Amino acid sequence: MVLTVFFFFFFFFSSSLLLSVHGQPLVPAIITFGDSAVDVGNNDYLHTIFKADFPPYGRDFTNHEPTGRFCNGKLATDITADTLGFTSYPPAYLSPQASGKKLLIGANFASAASGYYDKTAFLYHAIPLSQQLEYFKEYQSKLAQVAGSKKASSIISDALYLLSAGSSDFVQNYYINPYLYKLYSPDDFSSFLVSIFSSFVKDLYGLGARKIGVTSLPPLGCLPAAITLFGYGSNECVSRLNSDAREFNKKLNAATNSLIKQLPKLKIAVFDIYQPLYDLAIKPSDHGFFESRKGCCGTGTVETTIFLCNPKSVGTCSNATGYVFWDSVHPSESANQVIADSLIIQGIDLVT
Ligand SMILES: *[C@@H]1O[C@H](CO)[C@@H](O)[C@H](O)[C@H]1NC(C)=O
Repeated sequence: MVLTVFFFFFFFFSSSLLLSVHGQPLVPAIITFGDSAVDVGNNDYLHTIFKADFPPYGRDFTNHEPTGRFCNGKLATDITADTLGFTSYPPAYLSPQASGKKLLIGANFASAASGYYDKTAFLYHAIPLSQQLEYFKEYQSKLAQVAGSKKASSIISDALYLLSAGSSDFVQNYYINPYLYKLYSPDDFSSFLVSIFSSFVKDLYGLGARKIGVTSLPPLGCLPAAITLFGYGSNECVSRLNSDAREFNKKLNAATNSLIKQLPKLKIAVFDIYQPLYDLAIKPSDHGFFESRKGCCGTGTVETTIFLCNPKSVGTCSNATGYVFWDSVHPSESANQVIADSLIIQGIDLVT
């Protein structure tokens, strides 16, 4: 407890500290599941419209290259990996880099446009969460070949597991899918998604995971795409969507507390990204930003790629630092820094 408080203050005042011991990261590996907030390039290898492997994505990343990250630079989870002492990032599982010794620091199974509900991923030819879990099982046997089975199982139990899902289920499925919308109230749909979350965590625990961090939903109504699609011409956050996100988050927290009781060796934390992103969206200038209503990067038409940068469209801003959003859905690297600072404070118990 004292240690936690110490770290809390330390981070509060210095977010540049590296959380490592004698140059060794605090966890041996990071294993990631979910959607575009954490995808590091799996969709590059899929036939999907949800790709970020072209400029200007990656403009401010290492070597200024697009990698498949839906950002101008680092994702919040990249920054977390830096903070934990990693000097390289766990590879996208579908990439050629995901082999041999590179698997020792973990792997990333996330796929943009995926969610808790497998059918969301099917709509966009992304990797459903159930398939991400199958890939994780395959990863475990590859890891055992590289590290030996004893070392592999210690990596599996000491690794940090991250999960980001749910936004696509709402924004790219529920709200635009008349069938779902008729069948479920937002409350029902949230309960349905959270039940999938609980089974996913149980499955992951059964496969050896012991430290799991899951992100809450962001303020969905403040995403520029949501304001365009559901804001009826207003330039304000859509309160109905934000309220749905908060209700979902309550259920997620309740389910997590129940999992803690059921799974005795589990450490699990819900990372609240709603509040930090909401604060940025509502009062950007308090945090050194000046634009929170539109993304830096020009997007396509509503019919095609409103969610993404369009490489052919003009108007991408020259410096994304003051923008909360990079494209119409995804935070900029500078906003991800704010989110990551908040994640590490909330997740310190998982890694110490
Ligand atoms: C972008 O703006 C920030 C702050 O205004 C500044 O620190 C940074 O150097 C700028 N970056 C580029 C590439 O011009």
